[in-house]
Amino acid sequence: MRPLLEVKALSARYGQIVALQDVVLEVRAGEAVALLGANGAGKSTLIKSVMGFVAPAAGEIFYDGRRLAGVAVCERARGGIGYAPEGRRVFPGMSVRENLEVASRAGRARTLARMEAVYELFPALAQKAAALGWQLSGGQQQMLAIGRALMTAPRLLLLDEPSLGLSPILTKEVLGRVRAIVRSGTSVLLAEQNVAKALEIADRAYVLEVGRVVQEGPAQELRQNPRIREAFLGA
Ligand SMILES: Nc1ncnc2c1ncn2[C@@H]1O[C@H](COP(=O)(O)OP(=O)(O)O)[C@@H](O)[C@H]1O
Ligand SMILES: [Mg+2]
Repeated sequence: MRPLLEVKALSARYGQIVALQDVVLEVRAGEAVALLGANGAGKSTLIKSVMGFVAPAAGEIFYDGRRLAGVAVCERARGGIGYAPEGRRVFPGMSVRENLEVASRAGRARTLARMEAVYELFPALAQKAAALGWQLSGGQQQMLAIGRALMTAPRLLLLDEPSLGLSPILTKEVLGRVRAIVRSGTSVLLAEQNVAKALEIADRAYVLEVGRVVQEGPAQELRQNPRIREAFLGA
């Protein structure tokens, strides 16, 4: 079967700065794939390229067999790509419920059903349904950002550094839900600097270094890899 997402020899730049070079990557249906690397490695650029916010300098991206070049961001979203951006952007003046509602494109019944599914995934959000965005803790805001992305029932969810700025306990709580998201039928591409945690939950992973893929493989193998252990896992 064809992968859900295929990134082929992708390069991207910002003016003279090369952010991605010859990146080859794929996400198959039913997978959680981690995109690992230090700050500035190119993780966000790759995710933004898939969503359509960054136009590649070279290479191609296919989603569900369709070439994405020239396809608008909203079209990609309609096609089933969900995106929870870095920095958990939620509407601060809207309640949790409203944040979820406005992210939905479905009718009333399906919107309510999706909302229930999000609350089931993140019970902490259910308790805060009436609270305003700005009143939430960092962890709750991250849950809401992911919840918003899930309101469209995406087939592919792009998660950009959900653990950024979160305590270890909240990181565990948020990243710990990725498997449940995959089980519910949404494949996940997860950009993370928290390599140890990401390798615990992902099926496969790619390691980016200054815009290039330097390692890839099953997460289980990468956890044992001496270079990864030395560079990222403090071994
Ligand atoms: N809007 C931008 N303008 C110029 N350079 C950028 C921009 N966004 C990212 N970069 C540069 O591109 C490279 C990759 O950045 P990014 O994709 O954000 O990495 P990561 O998400 O892994 O931290 C870095 O060198 C970064 O400074
Ligand atoms: Mg980033």
